[in-house]
Amino acid sequence: MMHKPRSWSRYLASLPFVAALLAFTPAPAAISTVPSAVGLAGVVRPQSDEPVRAPSGMVVSENWRASEVGRGVLAAGGNAVDAAIATGFALAVVHPSAGNIGGGGFMVIRFPDGNATTIDFREKAPLAASPDMWLDESGKYSAQIQHHTLESVGVPGTVAGFDKAHRLYGSMNWSRLVYPAVALAQDGFPVSERQARSFQGLVGRMTEYPSTVAQFSRDGQPYQEGDTLRQPDLAKTLNLIMLNRRDGFYRGETARLIAQEMKRGGGLITEADLELYRAEERRPIRGTYRGYEIISMPPPSSGGVGLVTMLNMLEGYDLGSMGHNTAPYIHYLAEVMRRAFRDRAEYLADVDFVDVPVHWLTSKDHAEQLRADIDPKHASKSSPSDVAVGHESPQTTHFSVVDANGMAVSVTYTLEQGYGVGDVVPGAGFLLNNEMGDFNAGPGITDENGLIGTSPNLARPEQRMLSSMTPTIVAKDGRLFAVVGSPGGRTIINTVLQVILNLVDFHMDIQQAVDAPRIHHQWLPDRLNIEENGTSEATVKELEAMGYTVSMRGTQGVANCIMIDPATGDRLGAADHRNPDGGARGY
Ligand code: DON
Repeated sequence: MMHKPRSWSRYLASLPFVAALLAFTPAPAAISTVPSAVGLAGVVRPQSDEPVRAPSGMVVSENWRASEVGRGVLAAGGNAVDAAIATGFALAVVHPSAGNIGGGGFMVIRFPDGNATTIDFREKAPLAASPDMWLDESGKYSAQIQHHTLESVGVPGTVAGFDKAHRLYGSMNWSRLVYPAVALAQDGFPVSERQARSFQGLVGRMTEYPSTVAQFSRDGQPYQEGDTLRQPDLAKTLNLIMLNRRDGFYRGETARLIAQEMKRGGGLITEADLELYRAEERRPIRGTYRGYEIISMPPPSSGGVGLVTMLNMLEGYDLGSMGHNTAPYIHYLAEVMRRAFRDRAEYLADVDFVDVPVHWLTSKDHAEQLRADIDPKHASKSSPSDVAVGHESPQTTHFSVVDANGMAVSVTYTLEQGYGVGDVVPGAGFLLNNEMGDFNAGPGITDENGLIGTSPNLARPEQRMLSSMTPTIVAKDGRLFAVVGSPGGRTIINTVLQVILNLVDFHMDIQQAVDAPRIHHQWLPDRLNIEENGTSEATVKELEAMGYTVSMRGTQGVANCIMIDPATGDRLGAADHRNPDGGARGY
């Protein structure tokens, strides 16, 4: 047993291994930036209407402390992959509703020479999964089982993904990238107002998981704004990852604790599932839009395919002349969304299990065919057939990184719903995902809510569930232009689409492009969602007259994006104003 250190960071630094690591970190600046990871107790800088400008590197994430950790890595000579990994681990500590080591996600990387790749670290179904696993004893589909039990936990991918990205493309010492997260978990950080509200809900809901209540409350009283949140069990697990890389998670103590919790609570994941998990490097989806190059995530995400399909359709219209969020503009957006989401339901799933006609779906010819029956004056109708319309909460998280050499990294990762299934693995201190909810409900199953029963995206042993996450990079004339992404379930694809349209068709700066109100249509339900204050009442009336059912409420996504100033090469960071805890940090 380790004794309880007064300052974990100072304690770590006193260990011979860590002292040696710090002493031999090649870039001397790395040493001086390590302590900054534990000095992140400052006040949130108010967000400005201007993007944050920096000449060399930039990190934008949903929590400014995590951005600061990434910035420190860049300033110490790390590349964009290094900074993304450090930011991702830090988010697992300071943004626990979505930042994670118990979930999964995707990383898109563009190198300074224009080549690009992706790392798929999406969760997988455990070996004991089966297509009809969501049926209860009476043979009826149960959303409760699919989304809210330990059977909904997919085999996590984040640690394997970061490990793979680092082995292939990282440049800094691995321990240096995990260390700030270890320190943040052990020393703690002050809870923000937004987090305090969120913990309040979580602690009330998760009484069935005492480990979760213990982690986010003091004796059952949720942490308040300004209280220090310390997560010593999480620090211990991150320390194992720091020392043993992926083996610190998929083998040994952590694997044992996960398997033990599964057994206790009726989950399916075993140590064999964890041992088997591999992240995959995949070729990105590539498309073009009005001379811009789009690089995005392939299946098992539907994001890249959906985004390129929609952009291809929209190339047929002069959107800029319509005006932003006018009735004609929203109409064309909704119509291309409707069609791309119909394709999604029909074709998209894990390519390791299903043939997905990616090339055809993202072709200009296909877009032309889809566009052919869009009526300029009237909404089309979505025919209810076999598509899922499940609940989507706004709890995934996206971060963007650009380094001094122009290497760009776009990462979206998730626990699926906020705090995943809500279970902190006892003794290991991290939350488990409920990503199995992204599989279809079951063979042939349909109900009045439109649950999908088609085969491609059914739960099968080791299959990855279909995602909408759309980490994306945009280039122009061979040069990096923007790094884009957002959380938001199926709305993600449409959020990323609109940030790109705002830049390309409406010439907004990156902060305006991120903050501008957004819309969403996903084929079924046949409803047009517009953010609160997203357009005028008169426009809503026009859209209703065209045949739309319009719903105006809430916010859509949290896009944390970067654009390169074409004139100066400066990195312009924009943290989405929808989230007060976010931050763009550059140097
Ligand atoms: O992978 C997906 O598409 C979903 N599990 C993402 C969930 C999500 O974005 C929730 N809300 N932000």
